Amino acid sequence: MNKDQVLQKIMQLRNNLSKHNYNYYVLSQAVISDYEYDMMMKELETLEKQFPEFDDANSPTKRVGNDLSNTFTQVEHEYPMLSLGNTYNINELNDFDKRIKNIIDSDTPFIYTCELKFDGTAISIKYKNGKYFQAVTRGDGLKGDDVTENVRTIRSIPLKLQTNDYPDEFEVRGEIIMPHKVFERLNAEREDIGETPFANPRNAASGTLKMKSSAIVAKRNLDAFLYFMLGKNLPSDSHYQNLQNLKKWGFKISDDIKQAKNINEVFEFINYWDTERNNLEYDIDGVVIKVDSKELQEELGMTGKSPRWAISYKFKAERVATKLLNITYQVGRTGAITPVADLKPIQLAGTTVKRASLHNADIIKELDVRIGDTVLVEKGGEIIPKIVDIDIEKRPAGLSETNYIENCPACKHPLIRKQDEAKHYCPNEYACPPQIKGKIEHFVSRNAMNINCGEATINALYEAGFIKNIADLYELTFEQVYSLEGFKEKSAKNLLESIQKSKNIPFENVLFAVGIRYVGNITAKVLAKNLKNISNLQKADFEELIAVDEIGDKIAESIIDFFKNDHNLKIIERLKSYGLQFEISEDNQVDNKLNGAKIVISGTFKNHSRDELKKLIEQYGGKNTSSVSKSTDFFLAGENVGPSKLEKVEKFGIKKISENEFINMINK
Ligand code: IVH
Repeated sequence: MNKDQVLQKIMQLRNNLSKHNYNYYVLSQAVISDYEYDMMMKELETLEKQFPEFDDANSPTKRVGNDLSNTFTQVEHEYPMLSLGNTYNINELNDFDKRIKNIIDSDTPFIYTCELKFDGTAISIKYKNGKYFQAVTRGDGLKGDDVTENVRTIRSIPLKLQTNDYPDEFEVRGEIIMPHKVFERLNAEREDIGETPFANPRNAASGTLKMKSSAIVAKRNLDAFLYFMLGKNLPSDSHYQNLQNLKKWGFKISDDIKQAKNINEVFEFINYWDTERNNLEYDIDGVVIKVDSKELQEELGMTGKSPRWAISYKFKAERVATKLLNITYQVGRTGAITPVADLKPIQLAGTTVKRASLHNADIIKELDVRIGDTVLVEKGGEIIPKIVDIDIEKRPAGLSETNYIENCPACKHPLIRKQDEAKHYCPNEYACPPQIKGKIEHFVSRNAMNINCGEATINALYEAGFIKNIADLYELTFEQVYSLEGFKEKSAKNLLESIQKSKNIPFENVLFAVGIRYVGNITAKVLAKNLKNISNLQKADFEELIAVDEIGDKIAESIIDFFKNDHNLKIIERLKSYGLQFEISEDNQVDNKLNGAKIVISGTFKNHSRDELKKLIEQYGGKNTSSVSKSTDFFLAGENVGPSKLEKVEKFGIKKISENEFINMINK
């Protein structure tokens, strides 16, 4: 290829990738398989590396972010970012409607646009000549932080616009949000490594947006809805039409926007969403009502910091009263104690609630909540309901004050409370059953050692006295497992096999699995890559550790503490003796040409045994799966393939490849 052809190829790949990105992240309708997408991305990455002269900050390859430390310089907003007047009261909306009619000529017909009020963090993004240019947070409304690099990683934000009828320069404003699913996964991961979970998706979104490394932001899967366009040559006088234009250019605009001819239609919208919001995949905290015409908006102007032409109606967080039956205390893997309220079951925001978090001792004290009290439970931005108040009038005589426990509910060891931490801890790390079991559960989990063993089995193995720590797993015998209730010969063998197989799990997973506080799977990867083996990690001092990108003081101290502890050292020695991987392996995988493609092998082959093919698939970064499903990428077919398998392959439209074609794929 000559340079012109290379550039042409690069442009073509960028356009295709950006189209598929739009299909997937904005329309939620993938047209090609993940595998095909990844292959295109790989090809583009390779070309861009080979020809740095064609580099472009808005190439789809830049969505993964980088490890450079963000500095967040302050940028003045060209148009100030206003706030909205808000109300919880329907009557005040009538006043809003009247006020508008008083100001504008009352004969002028006008309409409202009703939108959802997304509960995230506001962003203002500039586009120049159809390209993503700069993203700035709200800040104080006049100037905000430049978060361009972080926002670039949000897949639903277009880097290059579609069609050509956009103004040369404009701004879009919207809300960066974290969908429930992403939030829950992130918090589970944080709790698992001993980090404080985020209180709600809003905090998680704004915290993520301010992270130093855009590479980490990229992994957090933020999303965004845009709801406002500003600039000199906007396509329409109608705000609604402008949003439709934004949609056409590739922006993610909510489908749940309604034009209302009068305030009664606004009320319909509000009533509908007051309950429907429980079915959304993200949080909203109200609706926003805007006068649709830009011209009228200008005529109406502002009061103080908010426009007269818009208002937000906020939903009251749903709140119900019920009786507090008991307070129990949970012990997490890291020893953190969480008080939990057992409630008389009630309906709240579409679900039955029996339990609510009481967070920590301070909150119990502040509310003076006592067993037997009538408590008010709320489901706000948080996923887990919380107790927000008590109804003191309903308190029966003689309830005794709640004394926070002083000893661990599981092992009776006295609890401690570290400085600046809200939670109590049980320090009896190696003898406290829930902590031991929690550590083993973490060790076997999918991102760690991927051992096929659930919570119930760990519990049974522990109760039977067969395992007291993660190393004991490798000394389990068939007789022991077989003796457990519910285990048959096959299932016992499977478990032991899965434990054996885990000895090949790469070092970075082992490092995550051993459970060093604050070392999550991303941190484990970074450490493995930089320090190569466990003995380097063990020898590294504080300075050496914090010199590694992304490793801060807290993590470094935690690693040093871990290796100071005899118990941990013994466990590591034992794990080494069983043959687990304590060194980064560079030759295990020859290449990643197959890039995670799921391949089913079937039939007999001329030049390779099936085991050889399996091995090749793994060495080249593919996954060998046994049965054909929708997610299969390739069907590697030899001779005498069964007709029912072939039928499935046809039905799902899976690509069939021969032995030769497969060999060509990995040798390319
Ligand atoms: S319009 C001048 N529309 O609510 C109008 N805001 O207090 C500017 N918000 O900071 C805002 N969803 O972050 C608008 N559909 C929506 C919104 C929305 C959420 C947020 C926004 C703003 C705050 C207003």
